[in-house]
Amino acid sequence: MTIVSPSILSANFSCLGADCRMVLDAGAQMLHYDVMDGHFVPNISFGVPVLKSLHKAMPDAFYDVHLMISHPLQYAEPFIKAGATLYNFHLECEDDIQQTIDAVKALGCKVGLTIKPGTAPEALEPYLDQLDLVLVMSVEPGFGGQKFMPSALDKLRWLRAEREKRAAHYLLEVDGGVDAKTAPLCAEAGADILVAGSAVFGAADPADAVRQLAAL
Ligand code: DX5
Ligand code: ZN
Repeated sequence: MTIVSPSILSANFSCLGADCRMVLDAGAQMLHYDVMDGHFVPNISFGVPVLKSLHKAMPDAFYDVHLMISHPLQYAEPFIKAGATLYNFHLECEDDIQQTIDAVKALGCKVGLTIKPGTAPEALEPYLDQLDLVLVMSVEPGFGGQKFMPSALDKLRWLRAEREKRAAHYLLEVDGGVDAKTAPLCAEAGADILVAGSAVFGAADPADAVRQLAAL
């Protein structure tokens, strides 16, 4: 069984709460919350107030917050106060990585690091023992509905082997172009958590799409 974290970027924002409830009821164990600042990526999505509303309506959900922003340090506190369960930011951001990890931990939140397709997993080495999660992007961040890049698979394998070697505890997540075809490859390569946006919310039956991914 894999953990499914539906990316609500692909949900219907006019009924966001209902869409979230639907995937949680179908067995999604997390909600993937994609924050974009129009600077780190060429797109703008949603921020603190929307998370706050969702958390108020669904306080028990796990909010897997993926920060595609240049300056995650200054936003750690507001997002964590708004209900983030995991604060997952990019290794390629402009802030000091160690300082940001320390700030997130001091706020009592789980912390994750994400790498873009062009970044080697070895670049995460100084931080691996401190992380709750590593996210491997299998598309360039910024937009839903892109094609899966198979180069993510070798990174997942490397990170799984490295976790074993270090007896580290981070979970492995993959994000971008994950669907019924590519999800089994990701699970086989070591992904514990599958992020899926269009494959869930674009499906004729989103609840069924969640159940199928979770069954892998
Ligand atoms: C991309 C986001 C993803 C995206 C995934 O920048 O980080 O979470 O919503 O969407 P799909 O599953 O459609 O590729
Ligand atoms: Zn994401």
